[in-house]
Amino acid sequence: MPCSFPRRNVHFEFNMNIFGCAVKEPVMEVVICSDEQQVGQVAANRVLRWVEGLATPVLGLATGSSPLALYNELARRVEEGEIDFSCGIGFALDEYVGIDPENPLSYRQTILRTVVEPLRMDPTRVRVPNGFTPDLAAAALEYDRAIAAAGGVDVQVLGIGSNGHIGFNEPTSSFASRTRVKTLTEQTRADNARFFGEGERVPTHCVTQGLGTIMEARHVVMVATGRHKARAVTAMIEGPVAAVCPASILQFHPSVLVVVDEAAATGLNHADYFRHVADILI
Ligand code: F6R
Repeated sequence: MPCSFPRRNVHFEFNMNIFGCAVKEPVMEVVICSDEQQVGQVAANRVLRWVEGLATPVLGLATGSSPLALYNELARRVEEGEIDFSCGIGFALDEYVGIDPENPLSYRQTILRTVVEPLRMDPTRVRVPNGFTPDLAAAALEYDRAIAAAGGVDVQVLGIGSNGHIGFNEPTSSFASRTRVKTLTEQTRADNARFFGEGERVPTHCVTQGLGTIMEARHVVMVATGRHKARAVTAMIEGPVAAVCPASILQFHPSVLVVVDEAAATGLNHADYFRHVADILI
């Protein structure tokens, strides 16, 4: 089947006319969903709308638990022949330092298992930062160049750490940062210990796309579920833009959709407003 992104039925169509101005994309849009499955559907609808008509869509790919419902929903639609990602290009956000890319714990293998195979992408068109090379700095520089050479990321999928990180840009990361080596916080290492077996040490370092790199994506879809994400979600959406919550930089991005479940939305002071806006727009 040729690569194509046919027009689909989308649940959320944002076409408003405010004081005579056509508003296609509100800047940071927040949708609160009843459960994780709906989070996946809403996020998938938007990803598909944003890649529609692109011959070789470039996806920015997060690992972790948060985007799984989104990837599963996209995979379901691939399975049903509704869409075809075989011409898609992918760039993962990050990778651990010192883990062999063949190791099942590496983000390379995780992306292959959770995204590339279910979405039937071509593995040769999907890249993950190299955290297993003597010259990490050169590899990181080359990674940013490869993203630029592919024409930039069309849609970046993000999760958020319980400390507000995106990618592995830990609190106090520079807003101008590019792909580089970062030291993981103890909080992040503790959060990710669930993926490692007993006696296996969570790596202390990673290579991550920088905040400056992430901000260059044309569109961003951020997914967050669970009460343990509520504080970070509130700081990202309602807090000041500050390096202590790296995700807050997304307030400056021109096209962001944040999709959260009720549990992750519990800290939002403006939850009723976000629901009201979504009701009007839907
Ligand atoms: C993963 C990544 C991280 C995760 C975040 C949330 O590639 O860059 O920012 O998105 O740590 O992880 P989960 O979704 O496992 O809670």
